[in-house]
Amino acid sequence: MADTALMDKLVSLAKRRGFIFQSSEIYGGLGSVWDYGPLGVELKKNLKERWWRSMVHERDDVEGLDAAILMHPRVWEASGHVSGFTDPLVDCKVCKNRFRADDPTIKGEPGTPEAQCPRCGNKGSLTAPRMFNLMFKTFMGPVEEAAAVVYLRPETAQGIYVNYLNVMQASRQKIPFGIAQIGKAFRNEITPGNFIFRTREFEQMEMQFFVKPGEDERWFEEWKAARMAWHRGVGINPDKLRFHAHAPDELAHYAKAAFDIEYEFPFGWQEFEGIHNRTDFDLSRHQEYSGKRLEYVDTVSGERFVPYIIETSLGADRLALVALVDAYREEEVGGEQRVVLGLAPAIAPIKAGVFPLVKKDGMPEIARRIYDDLRRRFPAFYDDGGSIGRRYRRQDEAGTPFGITVDGQTIEDQTVTVRDRDTLVQERIDGGRLLEYLRERLAS
Ligand code: GAP
Repeated sequence: MADTALMDKLVSLAKRRGFIFQSSEIYGGLGSVWDYGPLGVELKKNLKERWWRSMVHERDDVEGLDAAILMHPRVWEASGHVSGFTDPLVDCKVCKNRFRADDPTIKGEPGTPEAQCPRCGNKGSLTAPRMFNLMFKTFMGPVEEAAAVVYLRPETAQGIYVNYLNVMQASRQKIPFGIAQIGKAFRNEITPGNFIFRTREFEQMEMQFFVKPGEDERWFEEWKAARMAWHRGVGINPDKLRFHAHAPDELAHYAKAAFDIEYEFPFGWQEFEGIHNRTDFDLSRHQEYSGKRLEYVDTVSGERFVPYIIETSLGADRLALVALVDAYREEEVGGEQRVVLGLAPAIAPIKAGVFPLVKKDGMPEIARRIYDDLRRRFPAFYDDGGSIGRRYRRQDEAGTPFGITVDGQTIEDQTVTVRDRDTLVQERIDGGRLLEYLRERLAS
């Protein structure tokens, strides 16, 4: 059963604490487009940096790339997106709403007099399904004509395929090797929703791994295992993660095999990363459409072949939602209710809150000095407003793992207390050891 109450609470916390806001809210919002506030941008950046480090910096067989969003329109003909990236759509002639033809809330066959609109309830008002392309179109240059049409990319992958020879030659890589990229993608989704789960503008973190045909299945298994291990390493509850193998009728037009990594969201198990064996489909098509040879030549054996591609494709926004949902908890502490985001310290937007117990006796000055020192190393927050309990609660909701309090004893012996967000244990630490103490704990 979908836990809509939990999602509502999360959406409200995300706004209250500055994680995520609705786009253009003062104009009534723009459908399924979201903005990341001060804490959201840090969370997403931490996730992206962690992904980039594990993909590009820690491996010597994956290179980075940042290709443009706009590409030659022929790219999308070659990739199959112009002809095949479509959803069947029906319109209600009365209330003017649009639905996917396979929307389970539609009663009856759309286009027949029995079919009932799920929104206004009228019978016979739904049109027969017609195919609707999900790519956003725009025009390049001053004239709005068919020859000037360009698309906002619906996936980042194609920027990698068309650059694979450039990257390989410039970095002197040999097959097997990969190219990783993080960037925006756009899809004119008909039924977006569930907060940042399905949006019309989103970010993807994609890695395409080029292998010799015949070695693809082994690499597919390797990447499947590596990606699942990565999510566990981010601190996601392993009981809420699982693989879902695509049945033959679920496979995308380019895939020989595909596995989703799914998370158990409040609205059910859903994909947030896909691992695909794309075979030589993409490179062969680009070879055909561009007229340029995209073969790999093995310098030792002289063998020529079009590489197979194993793709790992993760949505940065969907991953941020997984992190938020997984971290959200409500609990009772000392007879009081508290909301906590138990984010792993490595991805938490703010690493430490610094609080003078009271606004007198030199405590604010010492707390400020500690804060100034810490924020040069990692994001920290200074707060002297309201009771210490309320200040702790605010940081609990923001997911801040450590709270440092300057109190009367600090004046006497330069020690501070460090409160752990999860265990609530307060340890007294020598001020001179504080940075080292936090550094050790922030790595996880
Ligand atoms: N290049 C392959 C590809 O794009 P996909 O399964 O369509 O495959 C991969 O998308 C990932 O991108 C998804 O698992 C999801 O995390 C993210 N994604 C796709 N559509 C999205 C949308 N409308 N909103 C947010 N994230 C989306």
